[in-house]
Amino acid sequence: MKQDNLFSIASNDIADFSFDANVADVFPDMLRRSIPGYDNIISLLGILSHDYAKNKTRVYDLGCSLGAATLSIHRHTSDLSLRHICVDNSKPMIKRCRSKLQRHMPAASVELICDDIQNIKIENASVVVLNFTLQFLPQTMRLQLLKTIYHGLNKGGALILSEKLIFSDQATHQQFIDWHHQFKRANGYSDLEISQKRLALENVMIPDTLEQHRKRLAKAGFSQTWQWFQAFNFSSLIALK
Ligand SMILES: C[S@@+](CC[C@H](N)C(=O)[O-])C[C@H]1O[C@@H](n2cnc3c(N)ncnc32)[C@H](O)[C@@H]1O
Repeated sequence: MKQDNLFSIASNDIADFSFDANVADVFPDMLRRSIPGYDNIISLLGILSHDYAKNKTRVYDLGCSLGAATLSIHRHTSDLSLRHICVDNSKPMIKRCRSKLQRHMPAASVELICDDIQNIKIENASVVVLNFTLQFLPQTMRLQLLKTIYHGLNKGGALILSEKLIFSDQATHQQFIDWHHQFKRANGYSDLEISQKRLALENVMIPDTLEQHRKRLAKAGFSQTWQWFQAFNFSSLIALK
């Protein structure tokens, strides 16, 4: 696995973060060292999906990056009647995702789409995954996407939504940020890397509170939402139709 040191050199002009070829190249390492619980979420969402992914339906991985969630779902369902639809608007991510999925799940039915997830028609879906993707959409567009997902899910289907969280109480918010930064330091990132990456993400990734997520999911129509995972300020929810 190639090591992420993209933010290790001091710069006076930090550009907005983008999912370009340099990021795609080091992405597995970046995710593991930056998101507490990432590997657990990936493997556990496969187990969750096993209960919801139904024969001859579609499983959508929106903002799939390198296809980690799709691979986990395939590993835990091994249902070849499922159609996996993987969507990402980053060409380098889709390119790498394609070769990874061809290598690891060659017999599965997979469609890779390089497009904005807001342009995707969702139909006959039993599982939809938004694993750390919704936070990159403008906040005003999030409800519409959740409504589209809700309408495209079959009854009994599930949305798995993982996100970085913020907290409305300032002291709590700061405490969780401190723990996250300690996690990154423990994984070998320097203070310079942490602060430059933070600057790069500032205008690009806008997290919500857990309460905002719950309200938005209910507004989109989901009848039940469980928070099934949290590690520091990173969490995953499952919302049921
Ligand atoms: C943090 S990564 C997701 C990680 C991935 N889901 C996983 O589990 O490993 C966010 C991904 O969403 C993609 N993305 C962000 N906004 C998007 C949009 N509007 N349409 C499609 N893809 C988007 C990015 O290109 C990036 O690959």
